[in-house]
Amino acid sequence: MKYFPALLALLFFSGCHLFHRVPNSPPAVERVIRSQFPEGKDEFNRTPESYEARAAHGMISSEGVPATNIALEVLKAGGNAVDAAVALSFAIGVYRPHSTGIGGGGFLVVYDERSSKAEVLDMRERAPARATRDMYLDKSGEVTEKSRWGGLAVATPGLVAGLWEAFQKRGSGKVSWKQLVLPSAKLARDGFAVDPDLAEAIRWTSDKGLLERFPSAKKLLAPNGKPLQLGDIYKNPNLAKTLETIAENGKDGFYKGWVAKDILAAVKKDGGILEQRDLDSYALRYREPVKAEFGEYTILSMPPPSSGGVHIVEMLNMAEDLIRDTDFESVANWHLKAEIMRRAFADRSKYLGDPSFFKVPVAGLTSEEYARHLAKSIDRARASKSVEVEPGQPAPYEKVHTTHFSIVDNNGLAVASTQTINYLFGAVLVAEESGIFLNDEMDDFSAKPGAPNLFGLVGGEANAIAPGKTPLSSMSPTIVTKAGKIYLVLGSPGGSKIITSVWNVLFNVLHHKLSLRDAVFAPRMHHQWLPDKLVAEPGWEGATLQGLREKGHDVEELKGFALGSVTAVEVEANGGKVGVADPRRGGAAAGY
Ligand code: GLY
Repeated sequence: MKYFPALLALLFFSGCHLFHRVPNSPPAVERVIRSQFPEGKDEFNRTPESYEARAAHGMISSEGVPATNIALEVLKAGGNAVDAAVALSFAIGVYRPHSTGIGGGGFLVVYDERSSKAEVLDMRERAPARATRDMYLDKSGEVTEKSRWGGLAVATPGLVAGLWEAFQKRGSGKVSWKQLVLPSAKLARDGFAVDPDLAEAIRWTSDKGLLERFPSAKKLLAPNGKPLQLGDIYKNPNLAKTLETIAENGKDGFYKGWVAKDILAAVKKDGGILEQRDLDSYALRYREPVKAEFGEYTILSMPPPSSGGVHIVEMLNMAEDLIRDTDFESVANWHLKAEIMRRAFADRSKYLGDPSFFKVPVAGLTSEEYARHLAKSIDRARASKSVEVEPGQPAPYEKVHTTHFSIVDNNGLAVASTQTINYLFGAVLVAEESGIFLNDEMDDFSAKPGAPNLFGLVGGEANAIAPGKTPLSSMSPTIVTKAGKIYLVLGSPGGSKIITSVWNVLFNVLHHKLSLRDAVFAPRMHHQWLPDKLVAEPGWEGATLQGLREKGHDVEELKGFALGSVTAVEVEANGGKVGVADPRRGGAAAGY
């Protein structure tokens, strides 16, 4: 008996291996590991093992080592998952200036095991008061690029208001606001080495001529006239000053005073319409999570103004009706999955928008009966053509850059948060004195019915521009519970690919029973109705892709791993936490 505690400890720490759902990784995952980690390391100089962490207490998975570490210190200091989320949000905004930051917005889903309640905080950007429906059309009615880059692309940022609210309302009270903000000011001032993802974002922005067009961004991204390269040090001392002001004054440090003046001056100088009244009237919103049962699991995900949760549930419902076999690479499965994605995105184009302005048929789109009805239109033998797939009729059933992190603390609190400034470096417009990259979230509206946005997504009336309206998102922070207990927390960046990346990983875990690491590492496929293409990452067996082509799918094989970047935490039956970050963008999981 005297060895019993040691035996228990051994069982706990090796529990991961004992409780793995599948003993061996599927061949597709092995192929990914061989190709992405050729000499045992990937382009981030990391091993496959480094993307997974196991711990007994709290766990964080985010898209950056420094950001994960800053949040981990908060948990260790007695802060809860919400405190850690606040610190992480500021840190990841510094570390991934191409993805997110205080010039943008996001969504935060919190689940509390003690009350079995989920809360959804919408801190997304809103259209400025002077926004008009046709503001991005030229005289001949064609869509211009003004929703993409520059002052007119900027919507009212919501992130700082949301983080301040989350801290006040759901923080533990054991750590101060300054403790959560100041480590990020230090990160911005000291700087850090540019990783392959940031290097590629800078290269793309420079090649596109955007650094020449926006000197304020060039000062940060090409400080000596030459775009920063892999390994160069990126610093943003002005952002450090801004964060210190926010640490001192809370959300007023952003929405009032010198920081606000600097933002408004930058936007105005570049032809934008954001005004102090937009900053003053920015309103957070609490939303009801989209909720669905999938076998023994409860899915809690992001409702409108995101399309994410609605379509993840719609696709899970269709899959539950259609997909029986569990062979991860079978042609039959992926044919059905492609048809399911096609139908969900057709619905997205018509029915999804800001629910304060447009009645989104959430209950219909997420009803099992509607999914069964849609599933009937799928031919198991042949691919449909997207031109023939109209958005469905849910009413009768009524009831590229972004980031995500997942946190579970030691007291039954989980946070899933996806945040963004939209495309690479947002509007590429930097408010110079405050060092803030401003968002181009206005591009997530439908500038003209049927015209694709930066992600190739089309929309219509539901997502037309109006003052104060929230642009439609695809962000899908999601929490899965089992008998009221936290089971899985996940989400992804990736524009339109967010929804399918989260769905791919969810289905890999819940249906294919892959381990979380394999579920994240496995290659993905994506279909978004228009363009009518099934996009496949490298790593699939040739026979699978050939079989899909024979069924009539136009399969586009990507050269790289470009479908999302899922950061996730799983809570095992014994309470141990497993964090997995996605090698696609060099994420980092850590716990204690
Ligand atoms: N800006 C990306 C999204 O919200 O979906």
